[in-house]
Amino acid sequence: QGEDVLAGLSHISVNTAARNVNLYPFPSKAPNHVSEDPEEKLDSDAEYTQIQPYAGMPKEVLLLHSSKARYRVTREILFWLMVACTLALVALTVTVIALSPRCMNWWQVSPVYQVYLRSFSDSDGDGVGDLKGIQKQLDHFQYLNIKSVWVGPFYRSPMRDSGYDVEDFRAIDPLFGTMNDFEELLAKMHSVGLKLIMDFIPNHTSDRHRWFNLSRATDPHYKDYYVWSDCDGSSPRPNNWVSVFGRSAWTYDEVRGQCYLHQFLKEQPELNFRNPHVRKEMTDIIHFWLAKGVDGFRMGAVKHLLEAAHLRDEPQVDPNKAPVSWDLYHDYTISQLGLHDLLRDWRAEMEAYSREPGKYRFMVTESYDYEEVDKTMMYYGTSLVKESDFPFNFYLLDLPQNTSGLWVQHLVQLWMDNMPKGQWANWLVGNHDKPRIASSAGQTYIRVINMLLLTLPGTPTTYYGEEIGMENVNSASRDPQRSPMQWSGDMNAGFNNKTNVTWLPVHPDYRSINVEVQNSFNAVQLWRNILAPLLHRVYPPRPPLSLPGPEER
Ligand code: GLC
Repeated sequence: QGEDVLAGLSHISVNTAARNVNLYPFPSKAPNHVSEDPEEKLDSDAEYTQIQPYAGMPKEVLLLHSSKARYRVTREILFWLMVACTLALVALTVTVIALSPRCMNWWQVSPVYQVYLRSFSDSDGDGVGDLKGIQKQLDHFQYLNIKSVWVGPFYRSPMRDSGYDVEDFRAIDPLFGTMNDFEELLAKMHSVGLKLIMDFIPNHTSDRHRWFNLSRATDPHYKDYYVWSDCDGSSPRPNNWVSVFGRSAWTYDEVRGQCYLHQFLKEQPELNFRNPHVRKEMTDIIHFWLAKGVDGFRMGAVKHLLEAAHLRDEPQVDPNKAPVSWDLYHDYTISQLGLHDLLRDWRAEMEAYSREPGKYRFMVTESYDYEEVDKTMMYYGTSLVKESDFPFNFYLLDLPQNTSGLWVQHLVQLWMDNMPKGQWANWLVGNHDKPRIASSAGQTYIRVINMLLLTLPGTPTTYYGEEIGMENVNSASRDPQRSPMQWSGDMNAGFNNKTNVTWLPVHPDYRSINVEVQNSFNAVQLWRNILAPLLHRVYPPRPPLSLPGPEER
């Protein structure tokens, strides 16, 4: 290699000499002298290596020097040192990332507060809560240190199932306000750091929905939007399936001369998710609301989304008894194959809206699976395919019937032991479909159950009024836990102040149990105090709120 270098060097030297430029400050031997004699050549090599490095030396001279042991070894040491440092730095970075606590998302650091829209706050005095009413009460969430608010359905609806029977998924029911009111509320909530979660009700529509009218009229595009089967208007129905509310899940439609399926009220026909047009319609609706800026969806009644296409009878628990809902094994009407694909597709759509920092769109699924906890856990998705951020944990609903410490431990363990690794837990003790804590467990337990909710690892979901220990009202319908929010001891508990009408009676205890007297009750302070440190992990401290402090109340 040294010879090659020297040969090259001689060549350069000759050329340099020809141009009469003396690059070599060592006159002892003419640089253009190239010996043919090997002996003499060796001598000349030795002499060249005597040449000291100098500024402007050609590459060949540089190579000659750089291959000397002292440079080569130093270079190699430095090279390997750099490799080692780089590897150490990478290892350190990975370790720090792996060991540091993960950045928590907004739906992990604040409880979800469920607003039952009809009953929260009535701004126009018609006796029904509305969107403007929520806007009036935003300070309440701030005061409690709550950041995530789930607002019940406000779609246009004939209200056979409190808005869970949707007539138009893109319109606001006039009872609750206008689209403008909604946009204003959302903007206001965002401006004070609150997130809005809304109901998404994919399983069924109202029988007044345009699609259903077109379907019963056998419009070619819409005829398979719902689940239809031949029947003659009298018994027997296509099969023995029963609705969640009892009675046959089939209703004869005179217009079409066939039966349609409904797993809830007969005014809530089941959409046919085996039809790709239906899937596309519902996905477009998700896009519609995401584009408006909503922060997440509570996906209702998801286990009912698909039914077995063969329509066979479901096995009876007791073959000698006429079946109502709970007397059948729901092998063909709930948790059918393909259900999770639907949810995962919607999740993927939501991901596309979640990329900007702080814009994460949250998904929670509603599925009562009772003792089949494995089924519930499937809604978390897999490590490769994401589904809901969490499925509602309804297992604590069992708590009021059995308020022993051991039972609490059992229920908590049930979730924690079955939750897939790396997922986020959540806890709930009531909602619009279940009795209030104070009525099922008793007033004595309100604070301890709220404290449990707030301190378990994961996101608690609370239902409006539970923070002050509201109780069920007397009502023969599904509404006892849906009475107007008790804001104060004033007329109608401060729910509205224009009339004395409320859509459901206010609970008579409102003079002693209301938001204004919360301090004597001390329950709200519990929320504030437990939540404050948690929130400051992601939200900077806020300036003092406009609500009066405890001493002014
Ligand atoms: C959801 C609601 C429930 C409603 C049902 C049918 O599960 O929570 O109130 O009746 O859907 O729409």
